[in-house]
Amino acid sequence: MNTLKLEVDADGIALVTIDLPGRPMNVLATELIADLGLMLDEVVARVDVRGVVICSGKSNGFIAGGDLKELVEAHDRGWTPQRGVECVWELSSLFRRLETCGKPVAAAMNGLALGGGLELALACHYRVLADDPKAVVGLPEVTIGLLPGAGGTQRLSRLIGIEKALPLILGGDHVKPAVAAKLGIVHALAPLADVVATARRWLLESPDPVQPWDKKGFRVPGGAGCLAPQASQSFMLGTAGVRGRYLDNYPAPKAILSAVFEGTQLPIDRGLAVEAKYFGRLLVDPVARNIMRTTFINRTAANKLVRRPAAVPKSAVRRLGILGAGTMGGGIAYCAASAGIDVVLLDATQENADRGKDYSRRILAKDLERGRTTADKMDALLARIHPVTRYEALDGCDLVIEAVFEDRAIKAGVTAKAEAVIAPDAIFASNTSTLMIGTLAEKSSRPANFIGMHFFSPVDKMPLVEVIVGKQTSDTALARALDLVGQLRKTPIVVNDGPAFYTTRVFCTYVDEGLQMLADGVEPALIENAARNAGMPIGPLAVLDETTQELRWKVILQAQADGLPVQFTHPAGREVLRALVEDHKRLGRRQGGGLYEYPAGAKKHLWPGIAAAFPAGADQPDVEDLKKRLLYVQALEAARCYEQGIVTEAADADLGSVLGVGYPTWTGGTLSFIDTVGIRPFVDECRRLAARWGARFEPSPWLVARAERGERFYPLPA
Ligand code: NAI
Repeated sequence: MNTLKLEVDADGIALVTIDLPGRPMNVLATELIADLGLMLDEVVARVDVRGVVICSGKSNGFIAGGDLKELVEAHDRGWTPQRGVECVWELSSLFRRLETCGKPVAAAMNGLALGGGLELALACHYRVLADDPKAVVGLPEVTIGLLPGAGGTQRLSRLIGIEKALPLILGGDHVKPAVAAKLGIVHALAPLADVVATARRWLLESPDPVQPWDKKGFRVPGGAGCLAPQASQSFMLGTAGVRGRYLDNYPAPKAILSAVFEGTQLPIDRGLAVEAKYFGRLLVDPVARNIMRTTFINRTAANKLVRRPAAVPKSAVRRLGILGAGTMGGGIAYCAASAGIDVVLLDATQENADRGKDYSRRILAKDLERGRTTADKMDALLARIHPVTRYEALDGCDLVIEAVFEDRAIKAGVTAKAEAVIAPDAIFASNTSTLMIGTLAEKSSRPANFIGMHFFSPVDKMPLVEVIVGKQTSDTALARALDLVGQLRKTPIVVNDGPAFYTTRVFCTYVDEGLQMLADGVEPALIENAARNAGMPIGPLAVLDETTQELRWKVILQAQADGLPVQFTHPAGREVLRALVEDHKRLGRRQGGGLYEYPAGAKKHLWPGIAAAFPAGADQPDVEDLKKRLLYVQALEAARCYEQGIVTEAADADLGSVLGVGYPTWTGGTLSFIDTVGIRPFVDECRRLAARWGARFEPSPWLVARAERGERFYPLPA
């Protein structure tokens, strides 16, 4: 038994310590499941064992859940739902065997117990949890497109009642120790050092080897046999909530409702079988695979800086220069100071620089009010931000991020002034969202040290940084930029240089398709609803108001002036934008209103002038067609970026679209979406859309050739 240790003491208590070798945390990997089975055989067979304590040998918690890599691979190997059922049944029946083994078993949880970790604990007769700020329990499977398939939906509902269990399972909530004890998920809390001793004490003093649901006359709290009125109400609320939050794109919440509803009306053994059936279906659904791969596996890899050139020694920024203390500069300053970095925040006037620092002050004041920080910590963080106007203050900065106006001449001016002060090996990064890094680097005296670091607004909330490598950018600059992203605890993607790089290109196709729909005479409310139905967090018209019509128009004019092809906007959509800006002066939210109006103290609503400015047609298109247009246009742009070598890894394209643009997680991201649809059907559908809506949907010969070869962006395992 490689993954656990079994020791039996003089009192006949078997201490089972789970400790997966070579893993930072315990997960329910195949090897551990096999070892748990062997352990169970042994403790049942040994007459000297009268009770069992299961604990963790890792200091950072009990068990973090299932092995996501194994689950993703299961999907990619083309498993049938039945194979998925068999897979989870192995674990589920092991847990059932554990709770009916005749000997009392206690779980001593020294911290985090999530997913399969909590399911194991729920199959124990007694649970004690560390009363520690880092400890949490929960069944977060819904957040990866699955349900707790090893008894979670059945045991938690039977333990604390459907009404309390259902919201936790549907929300995937992480539950803190005090709440877990109050809800009855755990029997006791104990100081970290005493969890095992507390479990032992229970075994010695008042052991009971029978679960409540295996006792005669057991009834599910809140609904036994038939549902009590409160429980049926919670089902109704659950269903409504599911519809509101997940619409039809996420099958897991519906499956959870079905598993709980059907399973709790049956004896536990049959309930477990019902749960396993729904788990099997979800496991082979691409949604679960997409979510797990992009938001966990690929994101974890990106956070570990897999794209960092390994030969460059590891670095850490101690003093960061920021040029421009506006929306972005102020936000980056806050994140850097939070990470313990000294920040020189430079703007053209002292008033502007101070205003940039005030951004941090405002966030911290709110945190203080909510008890999330202390006055001392707040003061220390603010003391790290130095608002200045003089370039000499940049002396000693290891890295400088430029975030002044999106204007070539202004950017060139501040680059020259900063480079005159900073050390020759300091890195210079631009936060531009649209201007090519190569052309900005032409104004730099050290283009090898010049790189793009594209943050997203609001910087303190948005996890992504798009790192843009120019033609002349060195490996050292890339490694040091990625090291800074790591220090800021953000997730990087690495892309090559080109007009608007990657995320901005994808984002613009989304917004421009919304404008194009207006030009086609689609009702604006229908456009926005279709987008949200597809899973986008915000409709294209509303998001254009946020990023502003004025800026989008300026960028198009700039591209024209630079002789770049105006890539994104279809002529009719462009005309809508021009009319909004020039004729109707609807410049954006910040400028007083755009496609929406923003009355003080009331909810925003669509600008009443829309109907006259862009009359809706008598025939409105099918919402499914609108959803397709919005998702396909972005996926096609991502494929173009891949074809052009702007993105070189599918993982970067997917993470960039999900974390930066809000492309729905159920798709796994833009390129994962193409794989999910299937590249051949995707190309066929693009052709249909092109014939109906315009050439922007026409697949390139490169994509067509890929489709003919059936080539995926994520190759299947051999
Ligand atoms: P902003 O207008 O809020 O701030 C720009 C700041 O730069 C102002 O405080 C201004 O006083 C200062 N500034 C202008 N000229 C200067 C000079 N010569 N010397 C010193 N300071 C000067 O702009 P924002 O939104 O922060 O954008 C900054 C950059 O970040 C732009 O390149 C923009 O494209 C990019 N960006 C913006 C995003 C956004 O959502 N706002 C997202 C990602 C990138």
